Amino acid sequence: MAVEVVPQTQAIGAEVRGVDLSKEISQEEFEQIRQAFYRHSVIVVRDHAFDDEDHIRFSSRFGELKRLKFNDFIGKGRPEIFIVSNVKENDKYIGSHDAGMFWHSDGPFLKHPHGPAALHALEVPMHDGRALGDTRFASTAAAYDALSDSMKQQLDGLLAVHSLKQRYEKAVKEGGVADSSTMNQAATQETEAVHPLVRVHPHNGRKCLYVSEGYTTRILGMPLEQSRELIDELTAHIIKPQFVYTHSWRAHDLVMWDNCSTQHKATFDYEPQQRRLMHRTTLLNS
Ligand SMILES: [Fe+2]
Repeated sequence: MAVEVVPQTQAIGAEVRGVDLSKEISQEEFEQIRQAFYRHSVIVVRDHAFDDEDHIRFSSRFGELKRLKFNDFIGKGRPEIFIVSNVKENDKYIGSHDAGMFWHSDGPFLKHPHGPAALHALEVPMHDGRALGDTRFASTAAAYDALSDSMKQQLDGLLAVHSLKQRYEKAVKEGGVADSSTMNQAATQETEAVHPLVRVHPHNGRKCLYVSEGYTTRILGMPLEQSRELIDELTAHIIKPQFVYTHSWRAHDLVMWDNCSTQHKATFDYEPQQRRLMHRTTLLNS
């Protein structure tokens, strides 16, 4: 079966059809998938069941996978698999149950932020035949392209600070539940990093806005208030409807996103007793 790439919106997202991840994919087919990924920033592969081994084999063709350092939420002895789930066993969550409460990309508080991530849906909560727990993805590349020339000039050369700690402390202060994976990471990892506000994508040269509601705390060399205003303006711009793809999950979906050219946010519209189980792999580099 030939690989077919079906764009989901003008700016972001494509479904890749004609691919069964449980089978070996030829180099030629993989090259088509790889090109679709760097062109559309988010790809969806669906309709065929596959397992963790297939998931790891496929995603590692894009590059070296991150191996988790902390103990919680690792999939059955595979340090490449991170579990996202609201399922409890012995009164303890088996995965990160509240990941993605705010718009973000993964790991900007690290000196080397996460590369692309691939999420495999094993169990999806449903209501009246409709899937719950959609994930929204926004294109930071399309958002950059749409800026005015004067704004592009203003952003040129600016550096921004991204902090995990601030997010964690804010969640605790607000009385909300801090993201459980965040708490793990806060205890074991670097928590703050500085990156250019505009990142140049290493694979396609596109410029991407690298500023998020979740993690960006300030822009260097700018008064705090002005810095906050600019962060708010840019983060609101990135999530405009024309830059967003909303993924409605089905079991056996694999959704892979680029953490340089996109941001994502989860939807919590399902009840605690409705099971949601997903496995994620993450690449070390963009
Ligand atoms: Fe995330």
